[in-house]
Amino acid sequence: MKNKDYIIRRENPNDYREVENLAREAFWNLSMPGCFEHYFIHIMRNHADFIPDLDYVLEIDGKIIGSVMYCKSKLRDENGNEKKIVTMGPLCVLPEYQRKGYGKALLEYTFKIASDMGYDTVINFGNPDNYVARGYKSCRKYNVCFEGDLFPAALLVKELKENSFDGRKWYYYPSDVDTPCDNEEAVAKFDSQFPPKIKGWQPSQEEFYIHSHSVINSE
Ligand SMILES: CC(C)(COP(=O)(O)OP(=O)(O)OC[C@H]1O[C@@H](n2cnc3c(N)ncnc32)[C@H](O)[C@@H]1OP(=O)(O)O)[C@@H](O)C(=O)NCCC(=O)NCCS
Repeated sequence: MKNKDYIIRRENPNDYREVENLAREAFWNLSMPGCFEHYFIHIMRNHADFIPDLDYVLEIDGKIIGSVMYCKSKLRDENGNEKKIVTMGPLCVLPEYQRKGYGKALLEYTFKIASDMGYDTVINFGNPDNYVARGYKSCRKYNVCFEGDLFPAALLVKELKENSFDGRKWYYYPSDVDTPCDNEEAVAKFDSQFPPKIKGWQPSQEEFYIHSHSVINSE
């Protein structure tokens, strides 16, 4: 897709390091000192749940300033019926280009593709501020939860087709694609391939803690 000031196109192998560096710049110190998302992207591309057809970058004057990726995941109802859905993330825009509508453009462009591929639901964990304007709602509104009837405040659901949910309870089963990111040594080793960057605290880390430890108890 070509707009007057940007191009949205599929990521290709020549972009890999540039996109990993972009993720590192966008996520650095955001939810923890340093970040793991560049490693996440690196391993995700080789995982069976990764969806190459939904792997897009946004380019301005030959420079990649935004990236979005998706993985396969599923919902299962109480009778064992399954619905194949997609989990969005990471989504990132280089800090100096943030809040100018590029994240919105990447999401809207790829939502259309996901819908054309037959998916009716996108889920992701995130700060609601970034997503409610894109039509995401609390998982509670669609009765989507984790086993144990846990409705995290950061679990956000976006219907790609109207009335995809009929009120029944769905349990969400994300991909295990991010499991290797728990390995701090592997993340640090990967990070050492990039230019040095100072790890530190910033208020967004507390915001992340609050969002990621909150649950919605009732409607
Ligand atoms: C989150 C991120 C991808 C959003 O991309 P972006 O290009 O900066 O965002 P956009 O300008 O497209 O705005 C998207 C929405 O964010 C919100 N937003 C925009 N500017 C905002 C501001 N100054 N303050 C609060 N919210 C704002 C709005 O809801 C906006 O949608 P709208 O324009 O339809 O109202 C980007 O900021 C980023 O990379 N952040 C760091 C990494 C990250 O947090 N990724 C998401 C993981 S949960």
